[in-house]
Formats: sequence, structure tokens, C-alpha cells
Amino acid sequence: MTKQLFIKTYGCQMNVYDSARMSEILAPLGYAPGENPESADMVILNTCHIREKASEKVYSELGRLRNVKDRRAEEGRAPMVIAVAGCVAQAEGEEMLRRAPFVDIVLGPQAYHRLPEMVARAHRAGADGGVLNTDFPIDSKFDHLPDRQADHSVSAFLSIQEGCDKFCTFCVVPYTRGAEFSRPVAQILEEARQLVDGGVRELTLLGQNVNAYHGLDEAGGETGLGSLVGRLADIGGLARIRYTTSHPRDVDASLIDAHGNVDALMPFLHLPVQSGSDRILEAMNRGHDVARYMDIVNELRTARPDLALSCDFIVGFPGETETDFEATLDLVRAVGYSQAYSFKFSARPGTPAAGLPRQVPEDVKDARLARLRALLDEQQYDFNTTTVGRTLDVLLERPGRHPGQVVGRTPYNQAVHVTAEDFRVGSIANVAIESCKPRSLAGRVVGPGSAWLGEDPRRG
Ligand code: SAH
Ligand code: SF4
Ligand code: F3S
Repeated sequence: MTKQLFIKTYGCQMNVYDSARMSEILAPLGYAPGENPESADMVILNTCHIREKASEKVYSELGRLRNVKDRRAEEGRAPMVIAVAGCVAQAEGEEMLRRAPFVDIVLGPQAYHRLPEMVARAHRAGADGGVLNTDFPIDSKFDHLPDRQADHSVSAFLSIQEGCDKFCTFCVVPYTRGAEFSRPVAQILEEARQLVDGGVRELTLLGQNVNAYHGLDEAGGETGLGSLVGRLADIGGLARIRYTTSHPRDVDASLIDAHGNVDALMPFLHLPVQSGSDRILEAMNRGHDVARYMDIVNELRTARPDLALSCDFIVGFPGETETDFEATLDLVRAVGYSQAYSFKFSARPGTPAAGLPRQVPEDVKDARLARLRALLDEQQYDFNTTTVGRTLDVLLERPGRHPGQVVGRTPYNQAVHVTAEDFRVGSIANVAIESCKPRSLAGRVVGPGSAWLGEDPRRG
């Protein structure tokens, strides 16, 4: 009998990827994706530890799940299995089982290929306490994962690199994801082909520092991200490649060349800088200054003049003065972003910045965040405005809310609501952009795109 699995995912795209893989691992055990936690036989919370708010959510959600689990037991039904995966699980480990003893499984991001045996043990353990695995095993989980299953998506994530050795002073990721690891080229190409065979048209390559990628090729030589992108671009049927998240320190000449030469590599790049003040960048241990970041941006824009840039910023890092913050605003004005994320500094246990003197008061952080967001929103709207009146290739991703409407993305990663008489999801159409909102565009199909894939036999 099939059992229902409900996975709730928090945090970054890598958690989205990991959740999909956990679902694939559990399929042979008879678990099929279910609609809600109330009717699920197993619930997995795939958690994020990056900021305090993100990790706090986990315990309130666990409180709700406990009630569901108790109700189910009262009704005499088979016990519900509760698993906590991801970065909070890694950070808290045994402590989580102590604080929430009704949790059956706690597993870290590098251990989820062990889920089937952990589920079996959890069933055996019953009331005897939870099953824990927060190891960083020597063998890679990627060597133990099943083939990718087609899930009708047009755009998919593919993890190529994981972990981080950079140790920015504010960040928990090096502790929760472990040391940098790059998957071998052949394994990535194989997974990419499986996804494309299943109908995927756009791949987003994932890594905590995706451009630190240095995987081994078939001859045992090291391959950087620039060459890997070139190899992936040769896969027939794959129209678009993106990657995230990149670090300024690891942008090399080959990657810049790829932005100039590889058509499938989209002209959009998320390149976080965090702050526009050299003093703060130093205290963050980012390993570069503002001048270096601006050089990289200029080199990238020389290679690909229409490159749209996105970014992450932290306001209120300990010791940040009004002058430091204004330097961040200056950097934003100098670069001009097409979109960006901004956060208030959150002191994370175990990170060096949490213990620094001169923590910035909450109300100052709030005010700075509001000022930065106002500027970034204005830039996003301005960028969207520059695309109105242009005709852009749009990858049609899914039907929209209204008949004759489809939702897609431009090369610059803008969402577009497209009016189309007749369209096929997964094809690329030429769309005249007619209007824009702060966060999206609207337009209509005027012809096949430059990479028209409408004839693809796999899409019936
Ligand atoms: N590897 C990426 C970032 C991963 S975390 C990089 O190096 O840029 C995603 C974003 O969360 C970061 O870019 C940062 O802006 C934010 N972030 C990380 N730790 C944070 C903290 N302690 N407080 C507030 N924001 C944080
Ligand atoms: Fe965190 Fe810095 Fe590593 Fe990014 S580079 S994951 S911000 S430690
Ligand atoms: Fe969060 Fe872990 Fe990703 S802390 S942002 S889920 S790497």
C-alpha cells in the first residue's frame, strides 16, 4: 500500500533540491507525495539555520506536528514518522531529540542517502527514542542517490558543489554543510541528461559557493565552473543554464569568458557582496574589497554587456556605522541591480560575529533595511521598465491563472505573464513586453524564440 509523504522545505534552493532527492529515495519504500501533513504517514521538515527567524519556525511547526501525531495515535492508526532534515538538524543534532522527543529521525544534509535504513530503524525503535545521523561521511551521498524522476518541470535545480570553506564571520553554512565538495563532471552530465530527457529545458546549477566548483573530469583533471557550463551547453534540448550562489573571490577568467561565449548561459548573475564598506567586508572575512568587486562586475559586463546582476546584503553587521551603511548605498547606486535580497544581521550561535562588540540596535537595523530596500525596489522597477517595448525570449514554464495566459521567464530572470493563443509549456517564445509591475512583466507572444523547442517530440 502506498504511504503518504509530506516534505516541508525551508531555506535555500539547495534544500529544495535535497527535498526532491529525499522524495526520490523514499519512493521505492512505497512513499508517494501527499497534499498535507494531517494525512501523511511521514513528514519531513527540511530546515534552514541561516537566521534566527528561520530556525525558530522549526520548533513551532514541530509543536503542530506533535498534535497531529498524537491524534493519529488516539485514533489507533499506524504511527506517523516525523523527521527533521537540513541545517537546523545538523546544528542541533542530539539536542533536538532531547527538546522534541516525539521526533523520530534527525538527519543532516550529508546523510540523507541513509534515509531508508533510518526509517526502518525508526519503525523498530518505536517508543525507544529517535534515530540520529549528522555524520559527514567520507563517501559522497551523490554516489548513492537514485536516477532523477521526470516531474513535468521545465526548470530544475542540479547541485554540483556543496559546503563552504570561506568562514564568513556571520555565517553558519560551513558548520552545517561541511567542507567544500565538488561532484565529478561525468556524474553531473549524467544527471543533467536524465533531467533533459524528462523534459527539463533550464538548469540552475547549485552550490553554496558554486563557482568554487573544481570537480574531476573523465581524465582525472580539475574542471572549473566555466568549462563545466561549456560541457552542459552541448546537451541537446537544454536551452538555458544558470548558476547560484557565486562568490566574488572565485570568479575566474574562464567563467567570465563563458558569460561572453556560451549562448545557453543566461545573462543574469547573483553575485552577493553583503556590504559596500571595506572595513565591514574585512570584519566579515569576505576576502575582497569594494574595488575588487567593482572590477569583477566591470569585467563581467565587458564580456556580456546586458548582464543583469542580483545580490545579497546584510545591514547592521556589528560595528556598522552610518558611514559604512551609506557606502553600501553608494555601491548599489554604482552597480545597478535588477533584483536583490537584503537581511538584518542575525547573531548566530557559534559564529565569530555573534560575539563581536558594538552590536547594532534592532531599530537602527530596521531603519537601514527599509532605506536599502527602497533603493533596491526602485532599481528593480527601473530595470523592468527598460525591458518594456523590447521583444525577449521567454521560457514558458506553466499555465497562468487565466485561460490563454502562461507564466514564463526572460533571460534576465524576470517573471512574465504572457498572453498566447496557443502555447506549449517548455517552449521558448518571442514575447513583446508591453508593461511591467515592480516585480513582474506582461507581454504577448509574437513568434517563436531564437531557441524554439516547440517541435520537441518528448513534449507530446
Ligand atoms: N554562499 C552565499 C550565501 C549563502 S547564505 C555567499 O557567500 O554569498 C545566503 C545569504 O544569507 C547570504 O548571502 C547573506 O546575505 C545572508 N546571511 C547569511 N548569514 C546571515 C546572518 N547571520 N544574518 C543575516 N543574514 C545572513
Ligand atoms: Fe556563508 Fe560566506 Fe560560505 Fe557564503 S561564502 S556560505 S556567506 S561562509
Ligand atoms: Fe539555510 Fe542551510 Fe541553505 S542554513 S540557506 S538551508 S545551506
